[in-house]
Amino acid sequence: MNPVKVGICGLGTVGGGTFNVLKRNAEEIARRAGRGIEVAQIAARRPNPKCDTGSTPITADIFDVANNPEIDVVIELIGGYTLAYELVLKAIENGKHVVTANKALIAVHGNEIFAKAREKGVIVAFEAAVAGGIPVIKAIREGLAANRINWLAGIINGTGNFILTEMREKGRAFADVLKEAQALGYAEADPTFDVEGIDAAHKLTILASIAFGIPLQFDKAYTEGITQLTTADVNYAEALGYRIKHLGVARRTDSGIELRVHPTLIPADRLIANVNGVMNAVMVNGDAAGSTLFYGAGAGMEPTASSVVADLVDVVRAMTADPENRVPHLAFQPDSLSDHPILPIDACESAYYLRIQAKDHPGVLAQVATILSERGINIESIMQMEVEEHDGLVPMILVTHRVLESRIIEAIAALEALDDVVGNVVRIRVEQLN
Ligand code: HSE
Repeated sequence: MNPVKVGICGLGTVGGGTFNVLKRNAEEIARRAGRGIEVAQIAARRPNPKCDTGSTPITADIFDVANNPEIDVVIELIGGYTLAYELVLKAIENGKHVVTANKALIAVHGNEIFAKAREKGVIVAFEAAVAGGIPVIKAIREGLAANRINWLAGIINGTGNFILTEMREKGRAFADVLKEAQALGYAEADPTFDVEGIDAAHKLTILASIAFGIPLQFDKAYTEGITQLTTADVNYAEALGYRIKHLGVARRTDSGIELRVHPTLIPADRLIANVNGVMNAVMVNGDAAGSTLFYGAGAGMEPTASSVVADLVDVVRAMTADPENRVPHLAFQPDSLSDHPILPIDACESAYYLRIQAKDHPGVLAQVATILSERGINIESIMQMEVEEHDGLVPMILVTHRVLESRIIEAIAALEALDDVVGNVVRIRVEQLN
């Protein structure tokens, strides 16, 4: 049988890795796919020194690939929402299958892209969009298909995790670690996507749709970054037996779906709390399987290429299958998606770590306890530190039981209004993940 012809758009970190893996493992990949795979064209603005493309035709115009009648599958690895969106729609319009690593594109425009792909009977595959080399989309969409998923929680941004790990282990400064992640090729073109949780929210949006059978709703995801985290909180959390991770959490409740990315205290003895550096991990809790944990490299040249090429193999295998019998994009059949709403953050429930800077007067702790108890907030643990020399204040660290976010917001306002409380109360959510 003739090889399947593919076009790679974008020859950066992931594009270069994809070309190299396809070339190096060509024989094994063909044995798995049932046909050879030939890179018939590449669109790139500049060569990638880590990638010897030999005699493969190269164009500077991505639309040459989308319009090339020889090409069966377009691999979109240019990133971003604009050109990538046009490229993918053009490829679909031309009846080509698409493989993409673009989480922003899928999270924001996925519903429209999938509808167009169904109309044209083509596949859009996006395993590499979430958690790089970890096949977590396949695991949830296919491997856990028997389950009613209750919740999932993931460390799904390698750059953020690298920064938090270096801050905790080596006491390094935030900006310095971010620079290193950029040099290593992990960070997004706009690094605020990493540190403000936008990249993680893109990925979480995709995971939640696949887990719960809901349309993609990135605009409803709650996002809080790690830029405000201080070494003091990292250390207090440690003293209480927790690690702070930048977690994406999606949880099904009776009233709706929680969809939130924020710094989170996790008990230090959980496996996921020990996922360090640029590594990613996603924990999925289903009613039949219980909790499962998927761990691996969440970014990088070949780990991400591993997922791109796996998608390509799936596409090649499915090219002869009836479109109705293919795995649905969002795991559930398109006419069976649910309208269970995404909850606003103040309707989400969590436990909380609170750090209060208080004056060293009698009765302050009693006032704090009263404010919390009046709002039905149960304290799980409390730790009062020694007076700090530089400001004469006493840091009070509390961990609460689970409570509605709206209650904690009210309580924090009341705490901050106390004469004996100075500055803002630091609030970080806590998840036990058990
Ligand atoms: N900037 C992303 C990260 C790359 O750091 O995880 C992979 O999506």
